[in-house]
Amino acid sequence: MRKKKLLMCIPSISIGILTVTAHAQIPMEVFQNPKNLKVLAPDISPEELRARMFSFGQQVGIRCSKCHDFKPDTPFAERDYASDKKELKRVAREMMLIVQDMNSAVSAIDRGPDHKAITVQCVTCHRGVNQPRQIEEIIESSVREDGLTSAIEQYRELREVWYGTGTYNFSAWRLGGIAQSIFDNGDTESGMQVHALNLELNGNDGSVYFHRAESYEKQGRIEDAITDFERALELDDSFGFLKGRIPRLKEQLGEKK
Ligand code: HEC
Ligand code: HEC
Repeated sequence: MRKKKLLMCIPSISIGILTVTAHAQIPMEVFQNPKNLKVLAPDISPEELRARMFSFGQQVGIRCSKCHDFKPDTPFAERDYASDKKELKRVAREMMLIVQDMNSAVSAIDRGPDHKAITVQCVTCHRGVNQPRQIEEIIESSVREDGLTSAIEQYRELREVWYGTGTYNFSAWRLGGIAQSIFDNGDTESGMQVHALNLELNGNDGSVYFHRAESYEKQGRIEDAITDFERALELDDSFGFLKGRIPRLKEQLGEKK
């Protein structure tokens, strides 16, 4: 239910995991005698073509019918997979060429005879979704366009569906950075609310307090900044550099009083 709702809210981001099971019953005849291959070898075996198409679905997170022009209830024998009518199929073909070019360029870098270059794949950028955006791009533009409440809702839903898949970075550190950047761009109120979301989701992570403290400091809320910096240090000793910064803030506080 949650996943369906998400699909409706964010039509541009579909759920890669769903595509896999739906394709399991596609008959092998579909992949025999392809008529319109421009990048893949025209004599590719049906098994290989099938594997390539399944893997597109998983790597880019879209169903066959997003690239190929048929309705989900069209019988297999009547589906015109050769047609280039759909834009996403044409984009995918250009993408295949880009990936080929990238791999030749990567393997042309001379790193000695023993070096085995990593192969660029669709998933290298796409990570299971059709629009390979970073979480901060999604959330920051959502705050600007739809407001904070809906951006926070979107973050929660994406996190629920994609947590642990590697598709988006849901770390406390990244969310704290998003909060700071919204704050620094002048929407201080929204920035503080994203810090609050980070605290709710990742309360045991020192970076939550570190990032919020920096925003407090910019607001001149020095006491709050000190409390948060101290908490960050308490939770995570990689914030050792704060041992110099905290006393300076305390001095500043003393001068003000
Ligand atoms: C991301 C877009 C995309 C998705 C998803 C996708 N395809 Fe394709 N498909 C293509 C492209 C592009 C080609 C043509 C490749 C070329 O020109 O070498 C192609 C070619 C084919 C062909 C050969 C058609 C012909 O006669 O030339 C078949 C069959 C096919 N796909 C089936 C499928 C099936 C079944 C699925 C779902 C499991 C699927 N595809 C998913 C983009 C996609
Ligand atoms: C180097 C990174 C990169 C790689 C690798 C890559 N893509 Fe893309 N892809 C992008 C970007 C960036 C966009 C968004 C383009 C735009 O905004 O017009 C995109 C968009 C797309 C879209 C359109 C999605 C939409 O909803 O508009 C499809 C389909 C697609 N890629 C398929 C593929 C396939 C299939 C592969 C592997 C053969 C692939 N891509 C490899 C970066 C990449």
